[in-house]
Amino acid sequence: MKKILALVLALALVLSCASALAADLVGVSMPTKDLQRWNQDGDNMEKLLKEAGYDVELQFASNDVPTQLAQVETMIDNGAKVVVIAAIEGSSLGQALDKAAEKGCKVIAYDRLLMDNENVDYYATFDNYKVGTVQGTYVKEKLDLDNAEGPFYFEFTAGDPGDNNAGFFFNGAYDVLKPYIEAGKIVVKSGQTNFADVATPGWKSETAQKRAEDILSSNYADGSKLDAWVCSNDSTAYGVTNALEANYDVEGLGWPIITGQDCDKANVKNMIAGKQSMSVFKDTRTLAAQVVKMIDQILKGEEVEVNDTTTYNNNKKVVPSFLCEPVFGDANNYKELLIDSGYYTEDDLK
Ligand code: BGC
Repeated sequence: MKKILALVLALALVLSCASALAADLVGVSMPTKDLQRWNQDGDNMEKLLKEAGYDVELQFASNDVPTQLAQVETMIDNGAKVVVIAAIEGSSLGQALDKAAEKGCKVIAYDRLLMDNENVDYYATFDNYKVGTVQGTYVKEKLDLDNAEGPFYFEFTAGDPGDNNAGFFFNGAYDVLKPYIEAGKIVVKSGQTNFADVATPGWKSETAQKRAEDILSSNYADGSKLDAWVCSNDSTAYGVTNALEANYDVEGLGWPIITGQDCDKANVKNMIAGKQSMSVFKDTRTLAAQVVKMIDQILKGEEVEVNDTTTYNNNKKVVPSFLCEPVFGDANNYKELLIDSGYYTEDDLK
């Protein structure tokens, strides 16, 4: 009897030590593996969190909202103390966010704001409006819009209407160019200048390509020139580039200026080949490191570092945010920016 008691006591001790030693669980929910950046974001987060001593549950949701909802709920059921979510559709995860609040699990919106729910504790992203400003300013300076006579012919392609970032990117670029559109120095032959008209559901390259093909055949088939195609990110720029290559006289008229964002490998290759003009670099290592710092601060009960408490209203509250700085990238600086910094190898870009 004594032996059994001793055994039970020993077992209880081992179990309680094990649970005291068990690391806090952090859930990381990424939208898809289809786009290069989310793979990098997920991998960086997982690596840094493990280095910081956390258990990690990393999931990718195949761009399917019900999948993401189920994955986040499972993370919370599994006892996650914090969930980090890059939403497919900002306003579709309310049920999971309510569950997080009930269970005392903190929520960090990652890169994309979680909308229409109070239970969003923090937001970490890049300055999304500034991404657009960098794109718009690049085109403005390249074409010397203040001094050149024009008119210049432009088209626009924006992102997914379900992603709160997409409007910030578009507005950032459009606000720089709007005065020239109003003055007639920039002409948009398709007439499509509203976000709703230029948006690309799901940020899909094929969708952006199809719309660009339609615009080219309706407005530029007569051989007229395009000076710039302002695209919000690299996946859409990729589609537009494909459309131009097949349906526009790039040999004779030259490539229009094409903007992008993310410095995806395929797009950096296009920049090196002279097809895409620029991209905005958002170093996913910087964002992941910032989020891991926030998680540490939350779980240690420390004050969480934020640098913006006014911009990101999710329709229920202004979510305290940390905005990282986006950086300009093109064929001239990519070596320093992407290779010397260890983001890519030379081989990645061959
Ligand atoms: C991100 C961009 C990305 C886009 C498509 C946005 O929310 O901020 O970096 O290109 O989603 O995935």
